[in-house]
Amino acid sequence: MASFDLIFLGGGPAGYTGAIRAAQLGLNTAIIDKREVLGGTCLNIGCIPSKALLVSSDHVHFAHHQAARHGLKFEQIAVDLNQMMKRKEEVVRQLTQGLEFLMKKNKITRLSGVGQVVGPGKVILTKKDGSQEELQAKHVVLATGSVPAELPEIVIDREVVVTSDEALSFDKVPADLLVIGAGAIGLELGSVWSRLGSNVTVIEFLPRIAATFDPDLTQALQKGLEAEGLNFHLDTSVTGVRVDQGRASVEAVSKGRQKLAFAADKVLVAVGRRPFFDNAVAKDLGLKVTDRGRVATDSLYRTSVPGLYAIGDIIDGPMLAHKGEDEGVACIERIAGKAGHVNYEAIPNVIYTNPEVAGAGLTEELAKQNGIPIRVGKFPFAANGRALANDQSQGFAKILADPKTDKLLGAQIIGFGASELIAEAVTVLEFGGSAEDLGRTVHAHPTMSEALKEAALGVHNQAFSIPPR
Ligand code: NAI
Repeated sequence: MASFDLIFLGGGPAGYTGAIRAAQLGLNTAIIDKREVLGGTCLNIGCIPSKALLVSSDHVHFAHHQAARHGLKFEQIAVDLNQMMKRKEEVVRQLTQGLEFLMKKNKITRLSGVGQVVGPGKVILTKKDGSQEELQAKHVVLATGSVPAELPEIVIDREVVVTSDEALSFDKVPADLLVIGAGAIGLELGSVWSRLGSNVTVIEFLPRIAATFDPDLTQALQKGLEAEGLNFHLDTSVTGVRVDQGRASVEAVSKGRQKLAFAADKVLVAVGRRPFFDNAVAKDLGLKVTDRGRVATDSLYRTSVPGLYAIGDIIDGPMLAHKGEDEGVACIERIAGKAGHVNYEAIPNVIYTNPEVAGAGLTEELAKQNGIPIRVGKFPFAANGRALANDQSQGFAKILADPKTDKLLGAQIIGFGASELIAEAVTVLEFGGSAEDLGRTVHAHPTMSEALKEAALGVHNQAFSIPPR
């Protein structure tokens, strides 16, 4: 029987990062995934392919709507969707192959098949050909991820009514696309297909889109997305979807009880994801689950089963690849007797639309709800030289600080490059720095990062490129 120090069930960002950390610490490690390739949802059918399509479709949008401003004229703009998909697949292939290489170089045993924990430190691996192998390990880490959530009243046929899995690979641009849910997936994939020519309507149950961000950002985001062509129905719930001859009829009801009807070639259900650990642990082991359906763990990622740990989308917290990666590292370091730790107050959250939105730490809304005093500095991209030169003057950066200590409490950015700019704020949050620390740090000129510096200076009404309040 093969025996290891550690076995990971699941080869997504949480699992593969944890496995590499384990190997770095000298632990004999194996990683099991039911897919032929590692990378999980993120690399195969999530973060990476969606970013590939977002950049390709953004080029299309640029050619149609912005190029002329730069003095560029195209005789004809044609989209070769097949080629766009091929490039996306090539990006995924490069990354998943890179992971196999990294596993080899780190001497991690790579096992294909479905794993099930049948006892403390005991895993049964069922391979594609149906054969089974029993494996043993001192510690087992569950990192089995998540799958798209479904709505009880809607049947997902994966043809007309689809999840993000299918919406990343449509073989033609749907004329009418209806998106249910204005979260990261709905907005990113809605943007892709809208830029490629679909008439996109987004139905959202809450009164605003991307509701984890502050209302000033979400209003600006909605305006930007509407300018790109997306239509929104907020405060609206879908009551039924009927598919007939390849087309969907969708019924919805708004908060004012107004009945709405839509017709679409494709319906994308993007109402969140659910943790996936079905059959990963034998029933008789009595794995404890939280009332929200996640695997219950303590602060060291230990589950109720001796020697079994859980990380990533299956445990509490935002379902984000980078949160899972850091949990993988912290979990392994704790197993190895080191002081691994994840700072849940400093996890960036990004939606890669145009404009992009990014945030970390406290929001203004949460501060108000919880009676936390804050001081706010805000700086518009329209007053940033690089943003103007880039033709990207829509957006702003916002900094939240403690009025007494000036400690940075949160940051939100909307506009071009927000996904990259947020990293600086996260670093300051992580180091427990102040708004003044950020404001007094030299930033290259001209860069969009100066907007963050000026927002930090704005906390004390000392920004240089906008008038005092
Ligand atoms: P989400 O939780 O971000 O958004 C789902 C939206 O659907 C919410 O606004 C919710 O109010 C709405 N909704 C729920 N039920 C509804 C209903 N019956 N009718 C209308 N609207 C309804 O979930 P999403 O976008 O599916 O993403 C899933 C997970 O994947 C999230 O945790 C997300 O953070 C993560 N993800 C992250 C990305 C990123 O970091 N850029 C990209 C894609 C996904």
